[in-house]
Amino acid sequence: MKQFSIVIAGGGSTFTPGIVLMLLENLNRFPIRRLTFYDNDGARQEVVAEACKILLKEKAPQIDFAYTTDPQTAFTDVDFVMAHIRVGKYPMRELDEKIPLRHGVLGQETCGPGGIAYGMRSIGGVLELVKYMEQYSPNAWMLNYSNPAAIVAEATRALCPQSKILNICDMPIGIENRMASILGYSSRKDFDVMYYGLNHFGWWKTITNKQGENLMPKLREYVAQHGYVPPTPEAGQHVEASWNDTFAKAKAVYALDPETLPNTYLKYYLFPDDVVAHSDPTHTRANEVMEGREKHVFGECRKVIEQKTAAGCALEVDEHASYIVDLARAIAFNTKERMLLIVENQGSIENFNTDAMVEIPCLIGSNGPEPLRVGAIPTFQHGMMSQQVAVEKLVVEAWTEKSYQKLWQAITLSKIVPSASVAKAILDDLIEANKDFWPTLE
Ligand code: NAD
Ligand code: G6P
Ligand code: MN
Repeated sequence: MKQFSIVIAGGGSTFTPGIVLMLLENLNRFPIRRLTFYDNDGARQEVVAEACKILLKEKAPQIDFAYTTDPQTAFTDVDFVMAHIRVGKYPMRELDEKIPLRHGVLGQETCGPGGIAYGMRSIGGVLELVKYMEQYSPNAWMLNYSNPAAIVAEATRALCPQSKILNICDMPIGIENRMASILGYSSRKDFDVMYYGLNHFGWWKTITNKQGENLMPKLREYVAQHGYVPPTPEAGQHVEASWNDTFAKAKAVYALDPETLPNTYLKYYLFPDDVVAHSDPTHTRANEVMEGREKHVFGECRKVIEQKTAAGCALEVDEHASYIVDLARAIAFNTKERMLLIVENQGSIENFNTDAMVEIPCLIGSNGPEPLRVGAIPTFQHGMMSQQVAVEKLVVEAWTEKSYQKLWQAITLSKIVPSASVAKAILDDLIEANKDFWPTLE
């Protein structure tokens, strides 16, 4: 079998060790000859990389491992770029969440004004990775899960339409894992789903098992009572109390449209007042992550480095991230696996903008994704998606044209923001906070 060369962009990410462990567990399906970490923060990456170097030496010494901040070294002789960068890192996420809250508006990593601010930072960072990939490894594919994926995907559609970049999100996967445990199935792969929407903004339309049995009735009954909180607790990602609240809240989100099953992120658009009421403006999710996941991962990495062995360390396999291997395999071996991707609509949702980036099922092969046909969507979803897709397009236009006007329109149009004056006040604070990252707006 062919052996692949991979670069992980955002080598210093809290998710990198879990993904490396996942790649090692999947070597029989996806053999790796070379693994490189790339990050623009050398000191942060070094901690994760030195620990992973020890781990790789112990578990897979045949893999040629390196880490660097030099784009040419990182992106030369590469088959796949796995991209998970966070431009501005957690301190900027903290501001994305806290600045809107100062104005009584919900603050969230990828939704509303916070997500827009993050998008204005991410576009340049991800486009830079695409440029390096095309310069040094023109045949490579980028598997991007850097957020906010909706805005990043719209930016790559508009600004580098020929580039080989696939945008993917793990939230539907996390929810489908919960659906599997709710129904007593061993894997989400026992289902075929029809899902549609924008990233962090979608609905399941049908869910069937491999025998064709419709599983929606049983799921609806359960979600109407418990949301996506399964009978026995989940392990791994999305397990903290704040995530559990989000999975439980899916009950209320579901009530708005009992025909479909919602993505958990819709709570931020449909119940923003409730989210604000339960937010602590001095301690948001960014603080939880810095005190929790970041501290844990970097602490364990430092331990591995000190002890010069990964034996007994508490770094865990991110098994649910194996969707990244499924995606890479689909491209590498033309498997035609069915997965949800963020792709240009082009008529798949027949009554929605052809040039919108939508999250829908695709069959993936060596030539990229073939989107499946979703058909027409109902008025409720159509209305919500039209408003949100306009926000996402305006952000990309604002970034490209350096337009204050368009960014003000984008924030005003966000369903979460009550008025144009509140939007302007938030925007002016965000500009100040993001001056090292955003283009200067005119
Ligand atoms: P993190 O801050 O721990 O890691 C991000 C890394 O990216 C940092 O080491 C940072 O230095 C680096 N970076 C920032 N800008 C860069 C640039 N221009 N070039 C190279 N490297 C750069 O963040 P995290 O919490 O581990 O998350 C990483 C990313 O993965 C985020 O974008 C997050 O939103 C995303 N994510 C996406 C999904 C999904 O469903 N699509 C799931 C989980 C996480
Ligand atoms: C889910 C989403 C990601 C998002 C993450 C945030 O996995 O799909 O897009 O980045 O949640 O999780 P966190 O633990 O960082 O709040
Ligand atoms: Mn996501």
